[in-house]
Amino acid sequence: MTIKWHQLIEKAWNNRKVLHESDEFDSWRVFHGYTEGAKGIVIEKFGTMALVEYKDDIRDDLDVIKDALLQRFPFTLILAKGDQSIGLRLKDRIFALHGDFSDAPEFAKEYGVHYSLRPDAMHNTGLYLDARPVRKWLANNSKGRRVLNLFSFTGSLGIAALKGGAKAAIHLDRSKELLPRIQKSYEQNGLDLGSRSFVQGDIYKHLPKAIKHGQMFDGIILDPPPKLRKSPHSKQQSQGQDFLGLAKLCSKLLSPGGWLICMFHRFDATWDESDNEVIVSSSSTLKMIHRFTSECDFPDDNIDRKLRVTVFEKI
Ligand SMILES: C[S@@+](CC[C@H](N)C(=O)[O-])C[C@H]1O[C@@H](n2cnc3c(N)ncnc32)[C@H](O)[C@@H]1O
Repeated sequence: MTIKWHQLIEKAWNNRKVLHESDEFDSWRVFHGYTEGAKGIVIEKFGTMALVEYKDDIRDDLDVIKDALLQRFPFTLILAKGDQSIGLRLKDRIFALHGDFSDAPEFAKEYGVHYSLRPDAMHNTGLYLDARPVRKWLANNSKGRRVLNLFSFTGSLGIAALKGGAKAAIHLDRSKELLPRIQKSYEQNGLDLGSRSFVQGDIYKHLPKAIKHGQMFDGIILDPPPKLRKSPHSKQQSQGQDFLGLAKLCSKLLSPGGWLICMFHRFDATWDESDNEVIVSSSSTLKMIHRFTSECDFPDDNIDRKLRVTVFEKI
C-alpha cells in the first residue's frame, strides 16, 4: 500500500465540514479521488452507508479504507464496488467490507425529499450526488410548471421539481426497469405517478412525435449521458451528449418564458462552447439566464472538469 488512506480520507472529510454539519441532506461524495490523491477511487455516503467504488485495483487497501471511514463516521454498512475494467466476475464485484448488505438504506434524504436507492445496482445507486444543486434549483423554480424530465433515470430531477410545486412532471427514459424505482420514490414522497408520467422509449423517437402533436412544456430537464449511443430514430446525431440535435428539439417544445436546464458532463468542450452550441441550435430562441456547478464534494480547480449546469429561457 503506497496510498496514505487515513490522511487522505481525514483531509477530504474535514474539507466537507459544511456538508456534514448540514441537516438538509444525508448523502454526499466523501472522497473524490481524481483530485484528492487516488485517481479512479470515489467514496460516497448515503445515510449510514458508504460505497467505495474503484477503477484501479486497490483490493489490498480496502480494509485500511474501511478503518479510516469508521474513524470519521459510525457507518453501519460499507460496500466495495469494483469496476468491470478490473476484470472481476460479476458476483465478486460488490461486497460488504463492514456490516450486512440487508442493512442497506432504501432511500437518501435531501431537502425534505426521499430518493429510492439500489446499492447493489451495477451502474449507479439511483441518485447522482453531483446533481444535488440541480435538484435544489428545480425545487425552487418549478412552481406551477409542466416539466419534461429527459433521460430521467430514477426520476430524481422530476421528483425535485414536483416537490417544488410543479403542476406535472413527465419522465422519459428508454429503460423500462426504472419504473419500479421511480414508483418507489413517488410513494415515499406521497406523490401519485399515475399512468402517463413515465414514457419508456428512445428520445429521438418521442421528441419529434411530441412536437408534431403540439405538446408544450414550461420547463425541460436535459441531462444526456456523456456518450449517447447512435439511435436508429436519428439521422444526424452528433457526437457526445448531442446538445446540437437535442436543444433544437427541446426549444420547439418550450413555451415562452419556459426554461431549459442543461447538464454538461463532457470535458472536451468548454462551458462557453457548450452554451453556445445550445443557443445556436435553438436558432437563438433561447438565452442563458443562470449557471452553476457541482459543490465542494466534487472539488476541481478546473471548472471545465466539473458538472456544469446552464439554465436557458425561451424568448
Ligand atoms: C446519466 S443518466 C441520467 C441521470 C438523471 N438525469 C438523474 O439525474 O438521475 C442517463 C439515462 O439516459 C437514458 N438514455 C440513454 N440513451 C437514451 C435514449 N436514446 N433515449 C432515452 N433515454 C436514454 C439511460 O437509460 C439512462 O437512464
